Amino acid sequence: MITQSRWNHILGVARKAKTLALKLKENDTKYAEDMFVLGMLHDLGYEFIKTNASHAAAGGTILQRAGYKYWKEVALHGDITIDHMTDELFILDCADMMTGPNGEDFTFAERLSEIADRFGPDSDAYQKCVIEVQKLQTDSRYTKIK
Ligand SMILES: [Fe+2]
Repeated sequence: MITQSRWNHILGVARKAKTLALKLKENDTKYAEDMFVLGMLHDLGYEFIKTNASHAAAGGTILQRAGYKYWKEVALHGDITIDHMTDELFILDCADMMTGPNGEDFTFAERLSEIADRFGPDSDAYQKCVIEVQKLQTDSRYTKIK
């Protein structure tokens, strides 16, 4: 289920994705609108998953069926194993890691600290996010959006 706090997170990610899009592609307002929509859709899988299932894969499957342009970005968000990130996945993952669980505007460090507090510093969830943030910060596109 999508909780009220998750809904706040989703809206925060959408707004952050719009802001980051305008930094990455200046003056491209249609692209920024598209990235806002991507943010709004990125966690919809939470509405349908049972425990331990991937909310990203579930959301991606639903959006693929609906013919949504960026379904792969939804399916792959937060995946630290992929080699090539599209601009749209880069924006989405950055926005996700700059938005708190209740929609807060966070730095990467604040987001990681919050995840460590919630899941524990030894948790898989936290360790995965540390790697994800390292990948985002070392990406050549990061200098444009930070
Ligand atoms: Fe997610």
